[in-house]
Amino acid sequence: MLKIDDLGMNGEGIAHAESGKAIFLPFYLPGEELEDGKIIKVSNFRVKPKCSYFMRCGGCSLEHLNYKSALEYKQNKVKLSFKKFKLEPKVLPCVPSEKEYFYRNKLTLKCDGEKIGLYEFNSHNLVEIAACKIASEEINKIIRILKEINLKNILEIILQSYKNNVLVTFKLKDNNFKNTILFEEKIKKIALNYGIFAYFNNNLIFKAGQEYFLKEEFNIKYYFTNNSFYQVNDEVKNKIYEKILSFISPADVVVDAYSGSGLLSAIIARKAKSVTGIEIVKSATKNANVLKKLNNLKILKNINGDTKKELFSLNFNTIILDPPRAGVDKKVIETLLNKQPSKIIYVSCNPITLARDISLLKEVYNIKFLQPYDMFPETHHVETLAVLELKTAIK
Ligand SMILES: C[S@@+](CC[C@H](N)C(=O)[O-])C[C@H]1O[C@@H](n2cnc3c(N)ncnc32)[C@H](O)[C@@H]1O
Repeated sequence: MLKIDDLGMNGEGIAHAESGKAIFLPFYLPGEELEDGKIIKVSNFRVKPKCSYFMRCGGCSLEHLNYKSALEYKQNKVKLSFKKFKLEPKVLPCVPSEKEYFYRNKLTLKCDGEKIGLYEFNSHNLVEIAACKIASEEINKIIRILKEINLKNILEIILQSYKNNVLVTFKLKDNNFKNTILFEEKIKKIALNYGIFAYFNNNLIFKAGQEYFLKEEFNIKYYFTNNSFYQVNDEVKNKIYEKILSFISPADVVVDAYSGSGLLSAIIARKAKSVTGIEIVKSATKNANVLKKLNNLKILKNINGDTKKELFSLNFNTIILDPPRAGVDKKVIETLLNKQPSKIIYVSCNPITLARDISLLKEVYNIKFLQPYDMFPETHHVETLAVLELKTAIK
């Protein structure tokens, strides 16, 4: 008999053999018991998953856990991440998402020439899907009509939505765009505004509809495009941005590092003394500059470059870090220890690299605020906001 006694960092159940060896059992919950591969005791926290592809599709890992427990799991995951680096800060409860389902504004579907779907966990086996319960209703409308086209030369389909607007990008094996054109006929029949793109040989080609859509949040107007990073859950993203704004004061000279298409930089620019965004992707910086112009934000400057190189020559007393999963480069940490800004605001989608980076700053900074946000319901992923304040400016 195996008894699940823990939930791992990837949402998997963990049992222990008599030898003490950990056994990882995805889709089982603490308290559950298994005999001969069959479940003989079911957790009170187990709920019926809403998605029929659950346990086959690699997209979601926690649909079988009730939402309250999933939030507690995420809070604990952040605590455990810090513990690995010998830190035990106060971690506030995980802020829930208003939508547990249909929240994603972006979905990347894989295609094998015949079927579209998502990969199984840790594999490149395709699970064909006809709907995705965590993607927006608009993205689901598109999935339905994708079934009607010939998928022969398609590798990937990237779907993005904002209200009634969708952007569809086909990654192709060759330069035969016939399908992308036929797809327009299908999409015209459903009540959505659209933009269709084809990507082949490192070239992104606009094919039909509208190239971008005007979006407005926090009184900032910007163009929603398919060549910049956007957070996938708008409602939770807005909660995080509001919280960040509450830590900004008018005297702050801010660097917004890893700034993407610049929405957060712009929101901060309405309150701070000045803001400099740093973003490595050219098209994202271009979008950030369009946004700056559109909103007449004179105190906002956008730099296209690598944070580890650009930070060195900038003067600032507050920095926002929002890096990819790998966290920040050691050179960035060195520059921060050297420049000692009074505030570091760190947004992270990977609590392990967040804890690692904060542990490297711990001699000089205190953790003032640490809170997980449920940006990715039904999955084991968690977004975390940390605010650090300088202990004393000793060099
Ligand atoms: C997690 S996203 C955050 C974007 C933005 N802060 C937001 O809230 O939408 C990380 C961004 O960092 C950019 N990036 C990755 N490595 C970078 C680097 N070394 N220097 C600057 N930007 C980088 C990516 O292109 C991406 O736009």
